[in-house]
Amino acid sequence: MSDSAKLSVAGKDHEYPVLPGSVGPEVIDIRKLYAQTGTFTYDPGFTSTASCESGLTYIDGDQGILLHRGYPISQLAEKSSFMEVSYLLLNGELPTQDELDTFTRTITRHTMLHEQLATFYRGFRRDAHPMAIMCGVIGALSAFYHDSTDISDPQQRMIASHRLIAKMPTIAAMAYKYSAGQPFVYPRNDLSYTANFLRMTFSVPAEEYEIDPVVEQAMDRIFILHADHEQNASTSTVRLAGSSGANPFACIAAGIACLWGPAHGGANEAALNMLHEIGTPDRIPEYIARAKDKDDPFRLMGFGHRVYKNYDPRAKVMQKTAAEVLKKLGVTDPVFDVARELEHIALNDEYFIEKKLYPNVDFYSGVVLSAIGFPTSMFTALFALARTVGWVAQWNEMISDPAQKIGRPRQLYTGPTQRDYVPVAKR
Ligand code: CMC
Repeated sequence: MSDSAKLSVAGKDHEYPVLPGSVGPEVIDIRKLYAQTGTFTYDPGFTSTASCESGLTYIDGDQGILLHRGYPISQLAEKSSFMEVSYLLLNGELPTQDELDTFTRTITRHTMLHEQLATFYRGFRRDAHPMAIMCGVIGALSAFYHDSTDISDPQQRMIASHRLIAKMPTIAAMAYKYSAGQPFVYPRNDLSYTANFLRMTFSVPAEEYEIDPVVEQAMDRIFILHADHEQNASTSTVRLAGSSGANPFACIAAGIACLWGPAHGGANEAALNMLHEIGTPDRIPEYIARAKDKDDPFRLMGFGHRVYKNYDPRAKVMQKTAAEVLKKLGVTDPVFDVARELEHIALNDEYFIEKKLYPNVDFYSGVVLSAIGFPTSMFTALFALARTVGWVAQWNEMISDPAQKIGRPRQLYTGPTQRDYVPVAKR
């Protein structure tokens, strides 16, 4: 492409710079469009809009490529750890052993919650959805950690980021414990980030939870696969909330609220609920027919993606992990037979092939999480736990960007034009 693009508005030509990225589509810089032409661009759902400049994560949806700071997700999932990927996302480079040890120690030291927060949980109903609790508790963190809310101070931003990454497993595990009516389990600093989370979730005072290395690795991999994903809806929400100068805890609470939706992070829960609803493989054709029916709003949950139109590289890793975990745990739940059969049928069905609808990461992650023992209501909370590192890294990047402005989209107004108020007696 040339280094500028021409746009003709009302018979007058205007030229706009074309900016190259290091890889991927170039962008047309239309920041001066309104000042020069008095018009806006119209792009509901932002399908053609780059909202920011970012050096964190790159996705090529046609090729099925996902890179964090340049490293392919498959390599990170196979060879790295969630702590290392977190360091990479936050700092830009893979850590040396010393840097990794220091970072891991810092995160470990921040895993405890202010004790007063335990009473906060008791304000919720026992059957509250964990995501409702997560929104509330994370939003409340700013009331507990005032000393890391000055966003103009990079040091405070980093402390808030570390706190959020460290406390999410404790908060998510406590949400689970609260709904199960079991006592909260405190973090243990001698365990890895992931083992600690599993223990806080599944251990009870009467019986210590034995950490299976296959389960620990699968869980760590799920965290890596969900760590960041470019400018998705919840990340964009975090950025938009942060652009007003809101404190980081409030911004992450906003991201959690957005993630909860079934078209986004809520899909893993919706996917497993759907598999349960299907129940047995012989009922799959009925659901496939419903998914294809234009008059039926039903969609196959865990299939399709806004960006990946070839395959979801995270799903490939997750599919393998699912097989490993199911084998190791010897799980025989019929829901897994439904998942396998549904995957097979959909991948060979003309409708799904033509619309490029492949299983996404949420299709398989639900299967693994269920095999590990998580109830479906916890799935999205686990996604939020892992995505927190991406959210804080993106938020830090945005705050450090001198071009950053408050996010303020415009609109195509189609409401009534100006008219005079009519008193109620005359309407
Ligand atoms: N089942 C049946 N048909 C589908 C599905 C599906 N899961 N997804 C898309 N379609 C059809 C859709 O009806 C439309 O058909 P037509 O062109 O005839 O109107 C076509 O495919 C394109 O769909 P779209 O809604 O325009 O595509 P989108 O890019 O806006 O939506 C999506 C992407 C993920 C919201 C959608 O595929 C979906 O709702 N999937 C199910 C929910 C899901 O699994 N979400 C998790 C995404 S991965 C995790 C994450 O990153 O958050």
